[in-house]
Amino acid sequence: MSSAQDRWGGGIAQAAATAGIGVLISDRDLSTAQAGIEQINRRLAGQVKREKITASQQQDTLSRIQPVADINAMADCPLIIEAATENMALKLQIFQQLDQLCHKDTILASNTSSISITTIGAATRRPEQVIGMHFFNPVPAMALVEVISGLATADDTFAATRAFAEQLGKTPVACQDKAGFVVNRILIPMLNEACFVLDEGIACAEDIDNAMQLGCAHPMGPLTLADFIGLDTCLAVMEVLHNELGEDKYRPAPLLRQYVAAGWTGRKSGRGFFDYNA
Ligand SMILES: NC(=O)c1ccc[n+]([C@@H]2O[C@H](COP(=O)([O-])OP(=O)(O)OC[C@H]3O[C@@H](n4cnc5c(N)ncnc54)[C@H](O)[C@@H]3O)[C@@H](O)[C@H]2O)c1
Repeated sequence: MSSAQDRWGGGIAQAAATAGIGVLISDRDLSTAQAGIEQINRRLAGQVKREKITASQQQDTLSRIQPVADINAMADCPLIIEAATENMALKLQIFQQLDQLCHKDTILASNTSSISITTIGAATRRPEQVIGMHFFNPVPAMALVEVISGLATADDTFAATRAFAEQLGKTPVACQDKAGFVVNRILIPMLNEACFVLDEGIACAEDIDNAMQLGCAHPMGPLTLADFIGLDTCLAVMEVLHNELGEDKYRPAPLLRQYVAAGWTGRKSGRGFFDYNA
């Protein structure tokens, strides 16, 4: 596993260790990787408190996760899942390094939301063994993994990755390497549309959310969900869809741009479509 401190790498490591799989965690440095493990421990302790797991299961899970100082320690891993910052240059550099150091059979997976798996694969000498594994937040609780085949991904790489997702107790969905895959391609334009509806004064934020919760049985209204995901993340996904698919229907809502420009990025900043400071 690569990059653990934040939600994704740490969540993936926790899901794998819970499923009985040994995990190495690498981040910027050893102390960041260790901080990731402390975060996993806090989540597990919360589960013990809520009597979802026992203290001995907490210890068993933790004992399967080991921090490492850098990715050179991962040379013998059969599968590596990269979950570093969404930055093309960084990902290409990590994959090139992994390609150099790992066994020829090692599968290299990325948790990327928007970077082409085909492009990442092409930066290595093993594009047949490069694949996407797109997890959902919070990873230990969410059942879906989108498994994304790049143009050159081999069928047996796909089969092994799907089997691994199942081993984690997840439900894999096979996706082609097109912007947004399945979930973001459908979900984020819907959230973007809610921004247009708000901007056009069709309804206020509370009523837009009520309408979609009561009329469509959505567990959370679109504007609350956008605040939860982060408006900057929503804008970034819309920009990727717009640029890569080239259709006006993916145009980011001007109001969404304005909120991001104001620093009102949602729950994490204390303010988005709703106010979280109180
Ligand atoms: N935000 C979402 O809704 C979502 C959903 C699914 C997948 N993802 C994907 O998960 C990945 C991680 O996203 P994030 O929001 O957690 O990113 P983030 O920027 O918070 O960083 C994640 C981790 O990368 C590490 N990192 C940064 N630079 C590094 C480097 N040079 N070497 C090693 N590690 C480094 C950080 O220390 C951190 O632990 C991205 O590819 C993103 O697209 C995001």
